[in-house]
Amino acid sequence: MALATDKWWDANTVAVVTGSNKGIGFEAARMLAEQGLTVVVTSRDVEAGKTAVAKIKEAAAPGARVLLHQLDIANAASVDAFVAWLKQETGGLTVLVNNAGFAYKGNIFGADEAQTTMAINFAGTRNLTEKLVPLLQGPCPRIVNVSSRAGLRSIIKSKELLGRLTAATSPDQLAAMADEFIAGIRDGTYGKQGWPGSMYGTSKLLVSLWTAQLAAQLKERHVMVNAMCPGWCRTDMSSQSGNKSAAEGADTAVWLALRSPQDFVTGGFWGERSNISW
Ligand SMILES: NC(=O)c1ccc[n+]([C@@H]2O[C@H](COP(=O)([O-])OP(=O)(O)OC[C@H]3O[C@@H](n4cnc5c(N)ncnc54)[C@H](OP(=O)(O)O)[C@@H]3O)[C@@H](O)[C@H]2O)c1
Repeated sequence: MALATDKWWDANTVAVVTGSNKGIGFEAARMLAEQGLTVVVTSRDVEAGKTAVAKIKEAAAPGARVLLHQLDIANAASVDAFVAWLKQETGGLTVLVNNAGFAYKGNIFGADEAQTTMAINFAGTRNLTEKLVPLLQGPCPRIVNVSSRAGLRSIIKSKELLGRLTAATSPDQLAAMADEFIAGIRDGTYGKQGWPGSMYGTSKLLVSLWTAQLAAQLKERHVMVNAMCPGWCRTDMSSQSGNKSAAEGADTAVWLALRSPQDFVTGGFWGERSNISW
């Protein structure tokens, strides 16, 4: 892949990729190892992670380390154990690719399912990130949030609701709105309130809105924080349908992760290496 001409990283630059045992996360981890960074593969299931690490090591540039640790982003104890291990093992990180994500298949829809979707895609990603921010290293660290065009602002059908969502200035406010969505599903009023019938799309909208908040918060520390959509990719999430390979989907995430510090961009939403108006 064609990347920044000024190679600012080396084998001591640590990149963490969540959900990297398969799919887009696996490809992102493989590409980062190929570029010579130390890559931390994380997997809910350690055995699945070991298989991925063996393949990523084959592709890794000489000197690049490929490490593995268990991580379930929706499990607070797992997140805490991971963060403690990372601090001990590498001292910190420069790149965080928040790739782990979940979507129910088919027509499954309900308040409990929305809660689970939010707990992984939004709350889990947020919790892990907030615990890793103090460990960010280097002059220009990066956070790449793998979001989705399924969560564009246009999925919200009420101007008032969209206004409140975009006016939110803290992740706690977004979390409270996630709870409103779930309560609306539970009592059947979500549609009337302007929420869409997509649990996944709503969770990703919150990820994108939170990305903008985090970018503003970390700008002074010179952290690049961006959201991206990989496109429709052939992975387990899409039941292997889709018009892109997982590697093609990972391309923009890796491009953002390795962008030159001179090209500082933050708070954007990207797809196919281009800024998307969302
Ligand atoms: N595929 C697409 O067309 C598409 C389009 C737009 C956005 N995305 C986004 O791209 C990202 C990667 O998806 P993918 O297509 O590669 O799907 P995938 O093949 O299903 O991979 C999802 C990854 O996330 C992990 N994961 C799920 N829940 C987790 C949790 N609680 N804690 C930690 N890891 C967890 C999975 O682990 P397990 O193996 O243990 O389940 C797996 O490693 C997701 O954020 C997804 O929403 C995908």
